[in-house]
Amino acid sequence: MNYAKIIGLGKYLPDKRLTNADLEKMVDTSDEWITTRTGIKERRIASPGESASYLGYKASQIALKRANMKAKDLDLIIVATITPDMAFPSTACFIQKHLKAKNAACFDISAACAGFVYSLVSAWQFIATGFYKNILVVGTEVVSSITDWQDRSTCVLFGDGAGAAVLTVSEKPGFLSHYLGSDGSQADILKVPGGGSLEPLSQKVLDERTQCIKMKGSELFRVAVRIMVQAAEIALKKAKIKAKDIDVVIPHQANKRIIDAVAKRLDIPCETVFLNVSRYGNMSSASTAVALCEAWEEKLIKKDSVILLDAFGGGLVWGSCVIKWV
Ligand code: ACO
Repeated sequence: MNYAKIIGLGKYLPDKRLTNADLEKMVDTSDEWITTRTGIKERRIASPGESASYLGYKASQIALKRANMKAKDLDLIIVATITPDMAFPSTACFIQKHLKAKNAACFDISAACAGFVYSLVSAWQFIATGFYKNILVVGTEVVSSITDWQDRSTCVLFGDGAGAAVLTVSEKPGFLSHYLGSDGSQADILKVPGGGSLEPLSQKVLDERTQCIKMKGSELFRVAVRIMVQAAEIALKKAKIKAKDIDVVIPHQANKRIIDAVAKRLDIPCETVFLNVSRYGNMSSASTAVALCEAWEEKLIKKDSVILLDAFGGGLVWGSCVIKWV
């Protein structure tokens, strides 16, 4: 089996900021409620034309430059998104087109907020088997396009953005372990019920706003904490390391209270846990991608750093992964 490692990270956030004060003018909410319940202060919102592929393309350009890799040398592009440009072609195909990565195979992964971890682990497997050498992994979302701006219980939580990683073969192991899981029996907790093949877009869908996110927030909160703790413990055990050996934890950035509860149960010091939820809200698959990139940009990730990624989302799906920065 070949080893794999990450050699370049990039991110792209739309310029437009939506603050809690802005939301106070749109729905019956307050900065105090949003801050104390979620830790979110503002989020970025894509402008018309800034689709998932556009945000992903901009993040990918930076990741490729930092990896010192040409787009034509990519063998595969995997894109994690729940807000694709269209039902098909895949968002990965659009990013390929923008990058002119003509030698790459392309596909999307639908694993909600765990999508970037699912994609990284998939890329790692393609390299491990010797199938591909150079792979671009992107988490990109325009969650604002599926947000119900009249529903205060969800619209305050989400934002748009993209992160990208370039993986290649390595002499040393850059991925130490992973754990992926799903529970489709709990699909009702978080979903976009309308606009798909089950309930195609219709006046009824638009009237009931079922083309937007529907969420059972407090149920999700409880299950998120339990599953993220379990997923982290399994990945650590598989990597044969303890929580104290982790240099940087990159949790899915859904809610600061969830992250604090997970860190406490894992007995991980707060200073090890990377947080940017206050600035971006929950960007679904882009959250862990952008957080990993920013932790590297802030020099929290250095040579030989051990990093734990821990994500959870609608499906339900979850994924954890221990990375070594070799
Ligand atoms: N502003 C003011 N009041 C609000 C708002 C708001 N934006 N939203 C809800 N409320 C009210 C409710 O109506 C309710 O009022 P009531 O008591 O009069 O009925 C009250 O606040 C409490 O509502 P809860 O839903 O019980 O609040 P909770 O403490 O559970 O916090 C929250 C809500 C923040 C959504 C929390 O449940 C949560 O974070 N859940 C997990 C969300 C999540 O992680 N989602 C994504 C994960 S997966 C993925 O990323 C795709």
